[in-house]
Amino acid sequence: MGYWKGKRVLVTGACRGLGLVLTRQLLAQEARVVIHSNLTPLPNDELLLKAIENGQAIHIRADLCSVDETLQLMAAVDEHFDGLDVLIHNAGISAHGSFMETTSATFRQVIDTNLSGLVALTKAALPSVIKAQGSLFFISSLAAIYGVPNYLSYSISKAALVPLQEGLELELKPYGVHVGLVYLGFVENDQVKYALNTVGDKIPVPQRKIRTKISKDRAATKILWAIEKRKRKIFGDFSGSLMWLLKMLLPATLRMALNRNQKR
Ligand SMILES: NC(=O)c1ccc[n+]([C@@H]2O[C@H](COP(=O)([O-])OP(=O)(O)OC[C@H]3O[C@@H](n4cnc5c(N)ncnc54)[C@H](OP(=O)(O)O)[C@@H]3O)[C@@H](O)[C@H]2O)c1
Repeated sequence: MGYWKGKRVLVTGACRGLGLVLTRQLLAQEARVVIHSNLTPLPNDELLLKAIENGQAIHIRADLCSVDETLQLMAAVDEHFDGLDVLIHNAGISAHGSFMETTSATFRQVIDTNLSGLVALTKAALPSVIKAQGSLFFISSLAAIYGVPNYLSYSISKAALVPLQEGLELELKPYGVHVGLVYLGFVENDQVKYALNTVGDKIPVPQRKIRTKISKDRAATKILWAIEKRKRKIFGDFSGSLMWLLKMLLPATLRMALNRNQKR
């Protein structure tokens, strides 16, 4: 029997981007999926609609910046699936602009979504995940390895997931819970991807021309593999391992590269 068959999985931010691809892969492997989203409606996707129709999946809306909505989300998950095996923290937002120009409200919105919201959901999900001896999985970023100029709220929020993973992994070891994290590199964008500007308006993120970017399918496959194998920390691709090695062995070189990139 496949690892994912019958597993109850909550994917946050599951109606677009990487979250949608994770969801499709999970459904194809017969997992039972809670398809979460906030603003994006359920896509008109045959696989998802069929899964909802036959009870393999449910769609629940919640703003992860709201503790009340987060608690309601977990209550609905428990009611529908009678517990949870795996929580994949995929939802996230980034903001672009200098530290000087970014308003405190915009900074807070990124931290609230990527960190405080994630912590609240983790706490709400913990009793169910402990009962199932399941997994918590965090999607971090290369921006966690070094503070990226003009993306500092994002860098900080993603960097904070590293000690969170490390400490939680040890705290939850006696309960048989796996806690993992990926340092994800550049992944191909959806057409609809957006980030915040300095004052919190949504601005479209253009398709990236970065050579090292990987497909959403590849990123999702790697994440599901890491959960199945109960890996603690993985890199999404070679660029992540390289950046991490540079930070450890040649931090000045990494700093110079980021400085040069910023001046472009
Ligand atoms: N793409 C990359 O190159 C890359 C690289 C490194 C790490 N990552 C991380 O990988 C994850 C997925 O990336 P992506 O590119 O697929 O992201 P994306 O296309 O920008 O989608 C972001 C998702 O987060 C959800 N979300 C945002 N704010 C929310 C809130 N307040 N409450 C609930 N959900 C919220 C959105 O849901 P709604 O649309 O329903 O509001 C959406 O589904 C993110 O955590 C991102 O930081 C991505």
